[in-house]
Amino acid sequence: MQEKYIDENKQGEAFAIAEKPQNTKKLFLESYGCQMNFSDSEIVASILNEQGYNTTLKQEEADLILLNTCSIREKAEQTVRMRLSQFKNLKKEKPNLTVGVLGCMAERLKTKFLEEEQLVDLVVGPDAYRDLPNLLKETEGGRDAINVILSKEETYADINPVRLGGNGVTAFVTITRGCDNMCTFCVVPFTRGRERSRDPHSIIQECKELWENGYKEITLLGQNVDSYLWYGGGAKKDFKNATEMQKLTAINFSQLLDMVAVAVPKMRIRFSTSNPHEMTEEVFKVIAKHENICKYVHLPVQSGSDRILEKMNRQHTRQEYLDLIKKGKEIVPDISFSQDMIIGFCGETEEDHQLTLSLMKEVEYDYGYMFAYSERPGTPAHKKMEDDVPADVKQRRLAEVIALQGELSRKRMASYVGKVHEILIEGISKKNENQWKGRNSQNAVCVFDKLEGQKLGDIVSVFVHGNTQGTLLGETIS
Ligand code: SAH
Ligand code: F3S
Repeated sequence: MQEKYIDENKQGEAFAIAEKPQNTKKLFLESYGCQMNFSDSEIVASILNEQGYNTTLKQEEADLILLNTCSIREKAEQTVRMRLSQFKNLKKEKPNLTVGVLGCMAERLKTKFLEEEQLVDLVVGPDAYRDLPNLLKETEGGRDAINVILSKEETYADINPVRLGGNGVTAFVTITRGCDNMCTFCVVPFTRGRERSRDPHSIIQECKELWENGYKEITLLGQNVDSYLWYGGGAKKDFKNATEMQKLTAINFSQLLDMVAVAVPKMRIRFSTSNPHEMTEEVFKVIAKHENICKYVHLPVQSGSDRILEKMNRQHTRQEYLDLIKKGKEIVPDISFSQDMIIGFCGETEEDHQLTLSLMKEVEYDYGYMFAYSERPGTPAHKKMEDDVPADVKQRRLAEVIALQGELSRKRMASYVGKVHEILIEGISKKNENQWKGRNSQNAVCVFDKLEGQKLGDIVSVFVHGNTQGTLLGETIS
């Protein structure tokens, strides 16, 4: 659950929780893509829980199969298509089985999905989940059903998400939906619609309830958390001008973060994703001010070359990005950063590529998520630019970027060795059931032997004595 994006070659993750004993129908719900999709799946499960569905991990016993899909790269879509084809036999055996597609692919492909995939009965975009009960009634009557209307207001603020398959320790809390940035490569503004912020009272309420229910860490989620702005609802662009908006502005992201940190003072707090052109110094100051906010920022950069950043419409330069990182390191001395990179964007030269590598070295990221550019239909880059970097060049450059990040990660991990870290116990180590796994404030994963009396959700002091590329090895000292 902690990975930022699920590997797009891998099948999605299915999570289940039996909620209401009186429910008789079974829902198999699988999520693909980013953390936002996992969070949305919890909202979907909650809505359907009220409609007689409990979730199941066994697709054979499902009355309803839903895939919450991702469109970010072509590969992600192919994986979902493959997965759908696996339900063909099941559908033959069980004619009453309903198969639905949710999320970004539903939004992008709309009715095309119903035409292309005979198997699919239901297509629902990310802002239309409240309509699921009505749509399911239509499918029960034997008709296909679709709702892909995007909203300027929907934040599902009042829906209490069913926490799916989590560890009972960490949870996501959505604070914004949609995106108003138009990065030229990105499909998200088309699939998730206009940006809108959720009512801060409902956010605080959800955080408090999570704490009361034993949760120890929350991640505030949005495509661009830094553009969070609450002034009573609606979209930012509904206001005629900045002055008009300013007058009504009540709360921005740094203020929200501060409020959450105060409202749940013992809860560990993370947030994702930050956008360099919107992130402010204030956010670093709030991190520095509160013990319970983790010293880690995921700050996608996509490229180290100004020429490419401009073609991507990222709205900041290499220097501005580096200045922001520098400020972060000054204000929060032991802060860590991770990146997203797109390799081989339209017109990327060897020189641009070298600038990406040199930027990475300068920042010394803890971790990175790196992708070869994948052209998405309908995006500005698709319409106006040529995807002209040959596939083998993209792959070679990608391999170089991944190798460099590996080196940087190892170096960063090694810098944590010989020190004591506060680790939140989040689960059992995959490799050794006698060991716990958790993360430090900087988001580095740490494994260590279990001791008597320790349990999931405890924060323990761990002395780190070694590391691999991605993991710290330690032992408890308290
Ligand atoms: N809102 C986030 C990112 C959303 S998409 C931000 O501010 O950056 C997650 C990541 O997928 C992006 O950061 C980018 O690195 C990658 N991505 C998006 N579109 C892509 C494309 N067409 N090809 C390859 N990678 C892409
Ligand atoms: Fe996509 Fe850029 Fe928004 S990467 S999600 S358009 S900030």
